[in-house]
Amino acid sequence: MALYSEKVMDHFRNPRNVGVIEDANGIGEVGNAKCGDIMKMYLKIEDGIVQDVKFETFGCGSAIASSSMATELIKGKPLSEVKELTNKAVAEALDGLPDYKMHCSVLAEEAIQAALEDYQKRTGKEI
Ligand code: FES
Repeated sequence: MALYSEKVMDHFRNPRNVGVIEDANGIGEVGNAKCGDIMKMYLKIEDGIVQDVKFETFGCGSAIASSSMATELIKGKPLSEVKELTNKAVAEALDGLPDYKMHCSVLAEEAIQAALEDYQKRTGKEI
């Protein structure tokens, strides 16, 4: 069996929503001290909905695929749903990750949570 699913390879080769949102109102940056990978998420939130999301990831293929899939999962979604997104859901949407690569999907969950916290701080709005 291949180490990585077709979906992981697809999102690694053709990542969705890569880049920066200049007028983002929620930005989260996280890193993993062990592997040194860094992930940054930009959210543009309006009316309680993630209208746009982009990411920059300096990391392994699984981290890039996880960020890409995570952006697809939260785009257009209400914040109540976005805050419930788990790394497990990201990994499942990618048809799985090898055990030792699960921490890459954790970065995606953490980056989104950090961006939501930043949004709360900036706006004073509860999610
Ligand atoms: Fe660390 Fe993938 S190896 S995020």
